[in-house]
Amino acid sequence: MTSPASAPTSDHLRLGVCDYPEHVPEDRWAGYAALQRDLGLTFVRIAEFAWSRLEPAPGQYDWTWLDRAVDTYHAAGLRVVLCTPTATPPAWLVRAHPEVLAYDAQGRVREFGSRRHYDFASPVYREHSRRITRALAQRYGQHPGVAGWQTDNEFGCHGTSRSYGGASAAAFPGWLQARYGTLAALNEAWGNVFWSMEYSDWTQIHPPHLTVTEPNPSHVLDYARFASDQIRTFQAEQVALLREHSPGRFVTHNFMIFESGFNHYDVAQGLDFVTWDNYPTGMLEFFAPPGTHEDAKTHYARTGHPDLTAFNHDLYRGLRRGPDAGTGFWVMEQQCGQVNWAPYNPLPADGAVQLWTAQAWAHGADVVSYFRWRAATMAQEVMHSGLLRHDETPDRGFAEVAAMNTAHYPLGPVRTRVALLHDYDSLWAYDLQPHHAGTSYWQQTLSYYTALRALGMDVDVVHAGSDLTAYAVVVAPAITLVTTDMAARWEAAVRGGARLICGPRTAFRTPSASAWPTGQFEPLRGLIGGHLKQYDSLRPGLTQAITGGHIAHTWAESYRPAEAQTTHQYQGGPLDGQSAVIRQGGVTVIGAHSETLIREVLREALQQAGLDPVDLPEGVRLSRRAGQTLLQNWGPGTITWQGQDLAPVSAEMTR
Ligand code: GAL
Repeated sequence: MTSPASAPTSDHLRLGVCDYPEHVPEDRWAGYAALQRDLGLTFVRIAEFAWSRLEPAPGQYDWTWLDRAVDTYHAAGLRVVLCTPTATPPAWLVRAHPEVLAYDAQGRVREFGSRRHYDFASPVYREHSRRITRALAQRYGQHPGVAGWQTDNEFGCHGTSRSYGGASAAAFPGWLQARYGTLAALNEAWGNVFWSMEYSDWTQIHPPHLTVTEPNPSHVLDYARFASDQIRTFQAEQVALLREHSPGRFVTHNFMIFESGFNHYDVAQGLDFVTWDNYPTGMLEFFAPPGTHEDAKTHYARTGHPDLTAFNHDLYRGLRRGPDAGTGFWVMEQQCGQVNWAPYNPLPADGAVQLWTAQAWAHGADVVSYFRWRAATMAQEVMHSGLLRHDETPDRGFAEVAAMNTAHYPLGPVRTRVALLHDYDSLWAYDLQPHHAGTSYWQQTLSYYTALRALGMDVDVVHAGSDLTAYAVVVAPAITLVTTDMAARWEAAVRGGARLICGPRTAFRTPSASAWPTGQFEPLRGLIGGHLKQYDSLRPGLTQAITGGHIAHTWAESYRPAEAQTTHQYQGGPLDGQSAVIRQGGVTVIGAHSETLIREVLREALQQAGLDPVDLPEGVRLSRRAGQTLLQNWGPGTITWQGQDLAPVSAEMTR
């Protein structure tokens, strides 16, 4: 499904801002719009939380203020991105229909009074979502100032992908019945004979929560799939109405940093292009930075970690692929000062806003839109920065945006022959039973991603079931749930000459998250040439030596090679003498968490593929787009690299 006017075109990066006309007196609007235009902005995103002002009482719409707001931006030459306001159903709706509310995993209602207080599965809420979407689309769908639409806001934010009661609980058995057909099939797939969990009626099946100890992982995995499907169909209803009443305008959604609650590939289908919200310093506070830097959270406190942001750019660039995919992605919300929601919220370094903008461009963004125009003077986000301070004076981010020349950032594809595979079923299956308190799907995935970035590579993050034949090196860091379709794609890539590097736990789980009765690697039998022998969860303080001077931490699994060769062995401990890395033809499996080992194996594969890896210093990164190379220093100090002094927190173009 392609809309004629996907992303409005340009030959260079464009900028935008998120603005909230409903938060300020109307006499500010024209002045703000003029200042936004003079700052060089093209797009203004509005109204994603404005439902209570658009429909103050049931069925009584008030379009007058939004008419004037859209006209004001349009008159200033700005292009409006209008949102469906369904992230914030108003009080009257919730009180009249409390059944639209969601339930947390403790079985408590998630109350009105902030945002995202709804259950995607609620038929009543679906009806209101369609109603407000249709009304907005009919009113503004043809407005010349409206460039396109954003659905809702950040699906899944605040842990809202899944509801554990109400409408979701009621819909789950029907979803299972459609998937499995019979209870016998479901009981078999979930292994319900274990602990007498077998069901004899569909209505006996509840969401997997409040159990005495952990619920059956197969049950949890299907609940994740079910919840993801609710988000997909919820959005599809909005997209259909926007297409009908606003032809020629794009439709997108603003996805979130490392959001794990739903299958993004599914939810992105039907959108013209993808956008995401980039908050580098806040993200760093929540995610263990990849790599070995001793105090990375402090070191990168004022910029965020280069690979955490880059990974998200590469993930979102790859979400829509194929002939009907839109062009580049957008950053719909780009941090431009402090955030308010992390445990610590340091001021960004001088130059950080320009560095983030340049990095977004280099990883494929066509538009970067800052959050937000003026710092909020009311409610939950008063501590959050905008381009303007509370008192309307320009803040630090404003000055950095004003000093930028976007003509230096030409659009064009990011081209790379390195793919890193990603998949939400594997993410869910891995994190259901990480078997070590210090690891996760993202952690394992990022350790491979960061090694590739530290070797100077641009990386396509792509779905594990994609066509991979264009790649020379394919890395599968944590695809623990490999389907037969995926295996066929991997085999085709290897047959075509690609090198495939797999991390621990690859193909360990069946599609229901059980263990393969024939052992790990079952779907990859033809490729791997070996079998799992042991796996060891290394608590902090326990390590495992590996030949070549490498040390495993966190996780070490060993293999019984059949046709494969052993390239590295464990030394000492319970795995002494066993295979840590096995290789058959172009396919290598690494069993251990060890940054130096991962980097060594990847470096060799890249060299063999003729991709010229370079060893970059900590904090230095290269990103290439449209024939340009962006050389970045994310560290707080000057770094000398290849005879060149790189200023702290800087990005410069080299050829
Ligand atoms: C985003 C959200 C915005 C705002 C922002 C603050 O997650 O979409 O509405 O809350 O965070 O950083």
